[in-house]
Amino acid sequence: MQINSAVNTAINKQIGMEFGAYLQYLAISTHFDVEGLSELAAFFKAQAEDERDHAERFINHVVAFNGKLEIPTIEAPSSNVNTIEEAAQLSLDWEMKVTEEINALLKLAGEQGDHITENFLSWFLDEQLEELSTMNKLLKVAKRAGDNELAVEEFMARHRGQQQPNPNADG
Ligand SMILES: [Fe+2]
Ligand SMILES: [Fe+2]
Repeated sequence: MQINSAVNTAINKQIGMEFGAYLQYLAISTHFDVEGLSELAAFFKAQAEDERDHAERFINHVVAFNGKLEIPTIEAPSSNVNTIEEAAQLSLDWEMKVTEEINALLKLAGEQGDHITENFLSWFLDEQLEELSTMNKLLKVAKRAGDNELAVEEFMARHRGQQQPNPNADG
């Protein structure tokens, strides 16, 4: 059995987006690292690694489903992120866009009668909800802290490790 070619194409595009997110979160993490904001650097580094994991999940799906992997050109990340609020806003906007893409992919899989991919994508729906909620929270905290970047660092340190793991995640 082989994956539907329209679904395969859409998944390849999604793999590019996941790697793009990996690069964007890595760029943000590095910026905060240089600024000495190590909690934020660690937070965004972990987000980056999650995105790489997402890309690998899609790649594994292509392999399992006899598809063809074609990684598209990855868009360069923005280096124009200076404040915590900007980083949080950019991340939230990104996650909203990705959520729409996952919804579109789910719709396409349904239309093509590809229930295996529909089922595979349900993990990503839970994951997107969690990431939207995390970035939303960071944005609220950043707005409240204003110029006091250390307040956000303290908040991150206090909540480190408290992020609930996704109950449906297996890794
Ligand atoms: Fe992702
Ligand atoms: Fe994400």
